[in-house]
Order: sequence, then C-alpha cells, then structure tokens
Amino acid sequence: MSKSWRPATQLVHGGTTRSQHGETAEAIFLTQGFVYDSSAAAEARFKGETDGFIYARYASPTNDMFEKRMCLLEGAEDARATASGMAAVSAAILCQLKAGDHIVAARALFGSCRWVVETLAPKYGIECTLVDGRDLANWEKAIRKNTKVFFLESPTNPTLEVIDIAGVAKLANQVGAKLVVDNVFATPLFQKPLDLGAHVVVYSATKHIDGQGRCLGGVVLSDKAWIDEHLHDYFRHTGPAMSPFNAWTLLKGIETLPLRVKQQTENASRLADFLAEQNEVAQVIYPGRKDHPQADIIAKQMTGGSTLVCFELKGGKDAAFALQDALEVVKISNNLGDAKSLITHPSTTTHKNLTDEARAELGLSSGTLRFSAGIEDSEDLIEDFARALSKIKA
Ligand SMILES: Cc1ncc(COP(=O)(O)O)c(C=O)c1O
Repeated sequence: MSKSWRPATQLVHGGTTRSQHGETAEAIFLTQGFVYDSSAAAEARFKGETDGFIYARYASPTNDMFEKRMCLLEGAEDARATASGMAAVSAAILCQLKAGDHIVAARALFGSCRWVVETLAPKYGIECTLVDGRDLANWEKAIRKNTKVFFLESPTNPTLEVIDIAGVAKLANQVGAKLVVDNVFATPLFQKPLDLGAHVVVYSATKHIDGQGRCLGGVVLSDKAWIDEHLHDYFRHTGPAMSPFNAWTLLKGIETLPLRVKQQTENASRLADFLAEQNEVAQVIYPGRKDHPQADIIAKQMTGGSTLVCFELKGGKDAAFALQDALEVVKISNNLGDAKSLITHPSTTTHKNLTDEARAELGLSSGTLRFSAGIEDSEDLIEDFARALSKIKA
C-alpha cells in the first residue's frame, strides 16, 4: 500500500487485507471472537507478544480495514471505528477527561453534541463553557486553569458558521489542551483538521462516508500516542465498537466518496446561487459563496464548498413547511450527506430542544431550512425548488 496515493485511489484500495481466498471486495468478518492454536498462543496474544485479534469489541478484521483506510484519507496515525457518530464524539471527549476538568466548546453544535458537553459532562463533574466560536477572543477568554479540551464543528450544523481551526488549535496548544474537531460537514475531502493543528478528528460516518442511507457509524482519528493514552482502554471497556457489517458497508461507501461529494457540492452550489435570487428567500448561507460571512477563513482552511445549504424564508415557519411539503424530488429528512437530496426544518427537528434564545444566538429562525444536496441532476433539483417556491407565492 502506498501512502503517497491520492485520496481517490486510497479510498478504493487503502487498508485492504485479503483472506486466503484472495477476494476482490473486502471480506466481512462477522465474528465475535478468534481461536488460538494453543494455550500458549492465547497467553502470548493477551500479553501483546504476538499480533492478532482477541475480541471484536477491541478490534476485528473488517473494522481494521475501515480504520486504516480512514487513517490514510485523514493523514492520521490511528483510529477507532464506532457504532455511530455520537459514540465517536462522546468517546473522543469523555475518554480524556475526569471530574474537575473543563471543556470550552463552540455553542453552535449539532443538538446531541451540545447535550454531551452541556448536560452530560457536568453530571460527572466536568465543567463546560460554551462560546460564540467565530471570534477567537471568546475561546481565549473562556480558558481556565483546568481547561483540558476544546471542541468544535466547522462548518456548523445547521447554520454553516465557520470557525478558525488553526487559531483555536494554537490556543489549545498554549494551555496544553486538546482540540477535538467534528468534521462531518466539511467531509474528509474538503478540510483536514489534523493538518490545521487539531489533535483529534471525529466523524459521523453515517453521513457522507456511507452516503447511501444504510447504516450508522462513526470514527475517531488521532496520533498513536493520544489513542494509546486516552482512547484505547476507554474503547475496549465501554464498548462503542462498530458492527463489522457496518464497517463493510462503509468500506464500500467510502470508495465512491469523491464522486458523490463532487456531484453533491456542484448541486449545492447551483442551488445556493438559485435561492439567493429568489424574492421569498431572506438569506442564503453557503460556504462556497463569496458572501459567506467567514469567506476569508473558508479560503484559508477548506478546499471545497459544502454539500449543504442553509437558507431562510421570509415567510417563517408557514412558508418553510409549505416549501418542504411542495418538494417532490427532495425528501423531508433530518439526515444529511445522502445520495438523495434531503431537507429539514431545524427549529422543529434537529434543534428543537434548544431554547428560543439559544436558537436566536445561532441565527436559526423559524424560516430557516437546511438542504443536503444529493447526487441527482441539478436541473431537476432547481426545477423542484422553482415549482415549490411558486406554490408558496400563491
Ligand atoms: C455534526 C454532527 N455530528 C455528529 C452527528 C451524530 O452522528 P450519528 O447520527 O451518526 O450518531 C451528527 C448527526 O446528525 C452531526 O450532524
């Protein structure tokens, strides 16, 4: 395997190991355990004197292929595949903290991620300060003597705010804290948090990595020293491991990631430009447009736009519901990154648990919709929106 292969090649071949049958496609090893030739062989495996698998909660062959392929794509030394994106987020954060520690996190987070830092962590004596992550001064002001973890997603779900990852990483390094980045919205193709100085990257593989609406998955990536010190034991003993069947599904999904993300980004970009010209639309936020509020940071840290578009309708919730209900090609779903175009109304779905005040802070109004571009023909998507918008005009 060559580490110098370009991403599209790594995503088809990277990390593959073959059984004695020499199968073309990656094999699924649906096994809980592994057998040993002798008692001494079992003892040696447990002592770490010989390589090999012990138990599927720790590691298993199909998961190992998925983890290795993700490491090649991300430029990470090591990874652990988890049952869902939330298993990855909570493991990455909690494995390195104890009572008395402090997290600084951006307030613009996917609802469940915010719950982990804002509600769950304090139950175990871990303090958390949420900041408006767009301004580096806010991160700096929130630092305390016991700050151990910084956490952010960029672009954010759903309003596509962007945070200066290198800037936050620099602050984290100054106080010996670790920066964990949820890179779901950027995809591993458009943003490399580890290159920007982040210490840990997490994904919901459920999104673009599967990209075909089939299974849940997640992955935590970092350097070997961090995984060995913090995640290794936590992962073994709390059991968030991915199912080997899902690892196999995701290995097949990831082969086509660049093709899908390219088409999805083209579709999102065309739709963002179309929506920006419509009278019913108050605002369009799209990381690929020059009028994105943080276009300068995007130019510094991202190599592509986004497969998502956030836009606000002047007519509020009624208009948002009417538009969603009138769409035919685009389906109403809170998922994202799928081959099928999806739309959701965040304030009544993914972000319904936030207070009105917290939603207002994020710029999330009752007229805000989040569109996740699929791989359909962009003309059909634009026609679908044009027809649906004409219905809300009527
Ligand atoms: C930014 C972000 N992080 C994490 C997750 C959680 O992923 P999963 O649903 O695979 O647990 C999501 C899911 O929607 C998300 O949008």
